[in-house]
Amino acid sequence: MLFNIFKPSKSRHRHSDFSRLQTDMHSHLVPAVDDGSDSIETSIALLQGLSALGYRKVITTPHIRPDYFPNTKETILAGFADLQAAAKSAGLEMELACAAEYFVDYDFQATVEKEELLTFSGNHILMEISTFSPPPNLYESIFKLRIKGYEPIIAHPERYVYYEVSEFQKLKDFGCLLQMNILSLSGHYGKPVKDLANKLLKAGMIDLLGTDLHHQRHLESLQKAAHNDSMMDILATREFRNADL
Ligand SMILES: [Fe+2]
Repeated sequence: MLFNIFKPSKSRHRHSDFSRLQTDMHSHLVPAVDDGSDSIETSIALLQGLSALGYRKVITTPHIRPDYFPNTKETILAGFADLQAAAKSAGLEMELACAAEYFVDYDFQATVEKEELLTFSGNHILMEISTFSPPPNLYESIFKLRIKGYEPIIAHPERYVYYEVSEFQKLKDFGCLLQMNILSLSGHYGKPVKDLANKLLKAGMIDLLGTDLHHQRHLESLQKAAHNDSMMDILATREFRNADL
């Protein structure tokens, strides 16, 4: 059962890092398998950056999307093994884990039918949908996942601006957790995304925060966000479940 984390603080004490979250569960740090980090050296530098921001555990989640990033469990886990070895050599004191960010389309439905998916912290699976239009098969996919015992997490719901807040409540009612990108709140993905992020936060619907870290520019934006007092104050008044992962 998930509880805790990033507990709302009644005091005015404000953090200027993300140490209260402890765990990040969305990033692209397996080198050269998607549009994230392109080398082991970059991945290590980005992990060091997350460590400096207060994270103690990183669950990295390469894209699996047949049309753009045709990864398999095998390609991802092989790359992750190399990353773990490099992190050890670099003396990085961080717990590392690996899963994936699955893109929901008809291929995904077939994958759910025929193979075991990459999960984390029990049976959580991270999934994203199109940022342009609602996928026709989302609820069917969620239903199949639930039947098989998976616990779906919808990545960055605030980026799906074609949905009303009520649609996200429906997804929660279907057993999904919602993961917001921290940088959505600082305007990194534009105003409509920032507005929806605020609405979802205000409604208490966001379960988890993620960095969705791909590259150095994201890391710099996260470092800036950590010193954005008004944003950190908003986050400090909400509860998230990251530390339970
Ligand atoms: Fe992502």
